[in-house]
Amino acid sequence: MSVLGLLQKRRSIRRYLKKAVPQRLQSRLKEVCLRAPSSRNLCPWTFHFIENELVLSKLSELKPKGAEFIKNAPLAVVISAVEKDCDTWIEDCSIAAILLQMAVVDAGLGSCWVQVHKRRRLDGASSEEYVRQVLALPLDNRVLCIITIGYPAQHPKPNAADALLWDHIWRLPSEAAEKPVEKKSKQTKFEVIE
Ligand SMILES: Cc1cc2nc3c(=O)[nH]c(=O)nc-3n(C[C@H](O)[C@H](O)[C@H](O)COP(=O)(O)O)c2cc1C
Repeated sequence: MSVLGLLQKRRSIRRYLKKAVPQRLQSRLKEVCLRAPSSRNLCPWTFHFIENELVLSKLSELKPKGAEFIKNAPLAVVISAVEKDCDTWIEDCSIAAILLQMAVVDAGLGSCWVQVHKRRRLDGASSEEYVRQVLALPLDNRVLCIITIGYPAQHPKPNAADALLWDHIWRLPSEAAEKPVEKKSKQTKFEVIE
């Protein structure tokens, strides 16, 4: 499928069938992660593929809202990086995360990004520190996000092209006068749940 085709299909999936992700697909996903580009090719990232139910259940408590479905996912990938000597760890991890989400669609699976970096638990403690403790990660390991993965148990509709925010595509005023606007933007209401 083309990249645009995958993007047209991709939606966040937060409910999954009780079915493991086969190792053959997990291997493909691991290769995708490791093929992500990174600044100066430092490859600062690490990817924890987690299927252990107890660990998934602990991770689902990393923040009060927007992480609870981790406990019902058959697989979660924790994306973290060694920050030392790498000032682009957030960019590098984000690129790997979205490439992973694209590969997930290609594999017939669903996924959702769970933000960890800069999030807090109910008592104000850092979500990142909590994940570091659950996984016994080294202190210099920064945790960006967790990507939950599984066979979808929900099928949200793809977003229609004319619902996209086409007025977020900008161009020089001189060019705007010459070319018509591609599509008119409809105001879309987004639900913020994270
Ligand atoms: C940086 C980032 C952080 C996100 N964090 C969360 C999160 O913590 N929990 C969650 O349920 N969804 C999270 N999402 C998913 C977004 O809510 C979702 O992508 C957005 O609402 C658009 O819906 P769609 O992915 O179905 O198109 C995150 C997405 C991004 C890109």
